Amino acid sequence: MIGVFDSGIGGLSVLAAIARALPRSDLAYLADTAHVPYGDKDDVYIRERVLRIGRYLVERQECRQIVVACNTATAAAVAALRESLPRIIDVVGVEPGVKPAAAASKSGHIAVLATESTARSERLARLIRQHAGPVRVDILPCPGWATKVESLQLDDPDFAETARRLLEPVLAVGADHIVLGCTHYAFLAPVLEPIVAGRAVLVDVADAVARQCQRLAGGTDDEASDRRGSLTLLATAYPERLSRALSVLGVLGQESFAARLASPAILADV
Ligand code: DGL
Repeated sequence: MIGVFDSGIGGLSVLAAIARALPRSDLAYLADTAHVPYGDKDDVYIRERVLRIGRYLVERQECRQIVVACNTATAAAVAALRESLPRIIDVVGVEPGVKPAAAASKSGHIAVLATESTARSERLARLIRQHAGPVRVDILPCPGWATKVESLQLDDPDFAETARRLLEPVLAVGADHIVLGCTHYAFLAPVLEPIVAGRAVLVDVADAVARQCQRLAGGTDDEASDRRGSLTLLATAYPERLSRALSVLGVLGQESFAARLASPAILADV
């Protein structure tokens, strides 16, 4: 069982990539909807949630691989989570795609969209120091964006205007890659794409994370077998939001999901 979690529905973008990469693996997705968003909370709060959820997924759902499908939780707590769990549990974090974006940049200028917590994190500063080289990296905190995705009102024209106002200044001075540094923002691509079109590329790391999960699963997703993996949906509040999100976001349409989902989302006492 692979356990994937996020503060809310954002990590479904990562879950979808994992489901495509590992069609025969059993997946559990936990949305911490009672505590979303994480992005405006302090590190102590986020760490406490991450440790509880990690323990729950290992002890109660028997997960042997944990994917922290949240940049904010990874920045604040992935090291503590690794330390707190038995060594046989693989822990995969999600970090903004600074490295691929900097490597592909022709203008030598990229921008990272992130929650306030990720934007001020030492982990993001270190990622930039280690992987951006001479490329200029602008960090753009996006307060309220994850909450917008949680509301599933993605076609709000006011929000499109907010996004345009934030991006226009960096696009105007040549940023050619915009890194989606929060898993929720993958679902905003239809809003962001028209703003950046012809000037910059949106960078998301979900497929790279899924490849890492595949490597760690090391052949357990036996291609010769016709077994279908299962999908268990868990939420700390409003489980119905998770089921609704899956269909509104178009994730449920994926063949790899539809056949896996045996029951509606379950309320998890974490
Ligand atoms: N989806 C999360 C991330 O990748 C966090 C959103 C939030 O809870 O603020 O950063």
